[in-house]
Amino acid sequence: MKRILFIHSSLFGDNSASTRIAHSLVERMVQEKPGSEVTRIDLANDALPHLEIDEFNSWLIPADQRDDTQKDLASHSDKLIDQLLAHDTLVLAVPMYNMGIPSTLKTWIDRVSRAGKTFRYTAEGPVGMVEDMQAYLVFARGGIYRDTPLDTQTGYLTSVLGLMGITSVKTIFAEGLNMGDETREQSLNNAMAEVSKLFAGIREL
Ligand SMILES: Cc1cc2nc3c(=O)[nH]c(=O)nc-3n(C[C@H](O)[C@H](O)[C@H](O)COP(=O)(O)O)c2cc1C
Repeated sequence: MKRILFIHSSLFGDNSASTRIAHSLVERMVQEKPGSEVTRIDLANDALPHLEIDEFNSWLIPADQRDDTQKDLASHSDKLIDQLLAHDTLVLAVPMYNMGIPSTLKTWIDRVSRAGKTFRYTAEGPVGMVEDMQAYLVFARGGIYRDTPLDTQTGYLTSVLGLMGITSVKTIFAEGLNMGDETREQSLNNAMAEVSKLFAGIREL
């Protein structure tokens, strides 16, 4: 049984390639491991506000010394971190917007990547505190950037997940989606084939 946290951030709802491919991956995981639980977060429709200084400062105050406003502010991040830690599988559906990840996904990261909670600073550098988490990143892009310096998303997400200790990360790419119908269809088919390959791996776990 898996506990899957499925986070998508596309503006396009049911027409989103990243959400559809990631959903298919999640469905297959559940089929393979009946009884698995899925928590779904739609960051496009339930957007988090940008992190501001009062909220950040509330984290720095010991929990038992926070006033009511600070408790409320800290609770946003606390709840998202507790939610993350209650799962063992993280599936991020990631559209490319303006050469990067959606800003809505960044607001989630800004709240779960938190010193003292999901990583800690040491003399040797930061050490991740999230254990036993498998992550899947499903990318959808209008152009083609995989394995080039213009793919800012993969390096960034693997780095920030790694900071928290989430070092087991698998990726699926749907690229060239705005490069004509034929390229789009081929790319979507390739991405679904990648899902099947991953699924074969999951089956063996
Ligand atoms: C606001 C916006 C910005 C975009 N910027 C880029 C971009 O920088 N590079 C790119 O390859 N595609 C870009 N696209 C195209 C999307 O990556 C493409 O539509 C992809 O399918 C989005 O994923 P989704 O289908 O899951 O929503 C952009 C789309 C939108 C709506």
